[in-house]
Amino acid sequence: MKIAVFPGDGIGSEVTREAVRVLEALDLPGLTLFEGDVGAIAYHRHGHPLPQETLAMAKAADAILFGAVGDPSCDNLERHLRPEQAVLGLRSELGLFSNLRPATVFAGLEDMSGLRPELARTIDMLIVRELNGDVYFGDKGMRTTADGQREGWDMMSYSESEVRRIANSGFQAARKRSSRLCSVDKANVLETSQLWRDVVIETAAEYPDVELSHLYVDNAAMQLVKDPGQFDVILTGNLFGDILSDLASMCVGSIGLLASASLGERETDFGTFGLYEPIHGSAPDIAGQGKANPMATILSAAMMLRHSFGDEAQAARIEAAVAMALADGIRGGDLGGKLGTSAIGDAVLERL
Ligand code: NAD
Ligand code: IPM
Ligand code: MN
Repeated sequence: MKIAVFPGDGIGSEVTREAVRVLEALDLPGLTLFEGDVGAIAYHRHGHPLPQETLAMAKAADAILFGAVGDPSCDNLERHLRPEQAVLGLRSELGLFSNLRPATVFAGLEDMSGLRPELARTIDMLIVRELNGDVYFGDKGMRTTADGQREGWDMMSYSESEVRRIANSGFQAARKRSSRLCSVDKANVLETSQLWRDVVIETAAEYPDVELSHLYVDNAAMQLVKDPGQFDVILTGNLFGDILSDLASMCVGSIGLLASASLGERETDFGTFGLYEPIHGSAPDIAGQGKANPMATILSAAMMLRHSFGDEAQAARIEAAVAMALADGIRGGDLGGKLGTSAIGDAVLERL
């Protein structure tokens, strides 16, 4: 079981350290961890945010545990050298098009949600976000127009096959849950979204057991706050999924709790190859202070065991330990408490 660990920048190294401690505590047979540089730290050491040797390490692994990338020291670099290109590069180079972002309220945290407790209690959803296309990966540029103004542009597009494969991921995920899929787009304005909607409807014919609905993204954002319990699986594109998942995190209580799995089509000897990371970033405002909540990364390690190593029992064991810690009042600053990153890691380890 080869796991490449890419801690990255800011709180990335603080939170991955705790997830690695949890993985090591499980006594998994044949577990091998190796570490690589990504992000700003890789740029400063090697001149590139995703060095060739890191990419090679990723390809040689069965799964990747990723912290976060991004640092203000890089805000003015040319875009291809910015830290964020490391995670975008890994997602596209490795064909990781299906990003699963579960959002569930843990018992005892209903009061920490940005929503009223009676609404928070109803949250149990999975956001299935497309990860290899959309405006993220289209042509982009900066130019000077004929009248001498600067103009920035980013091309948004989806091909039929890109939509079909993520739609299949969404329907399959819905089948494993409550069989309700809500596709979120902006088909009233965007051609990209019209194609998205058409292809999702075509794909639905193969899943008659799944109930399909559609929402425009602006309404979906509103509905997430008004009545989050209506959602089971949300299927959406790269940009809308990015925004809606940060919104969902505050419905749950903290961005420090939301994990993710990024999967493609490659199968290893153990399961599906994937990259696992918290949905949050490098949090420069609290980096280096030992304040970050590592639970999102620990929960991402649980998703890794489930999807890449077929070990449902150990995945559930980690999730139960996190849930128990939260039920026992273990709280970092993000949840109104005082515990630091390693103390939260200790609390989870004790409960394993
Ligand atoms: P962020 O997610 O890093 O932080 C947003 C806010 O949430 C901050 O106030 C931060 O302190 C808090 N926060 C985030 N994670 C937390 C945790 N585990 N515990 C407690 N508090 C936490 O978003 P941002 O500030 O917009 O971005 C900072 C950098 O991270 C940028 O460079 C951005 O591009 C990058 N980023 C990277 C990833 C990734 O690597 N996948 C994801 C998101 C943002
Ligand atoms: C995320 C992040 C990334 C994204 C950035 C850092 C490229 O916000 O993983 O949610 O937009 O996908
Ligand atoms: Mn994001």
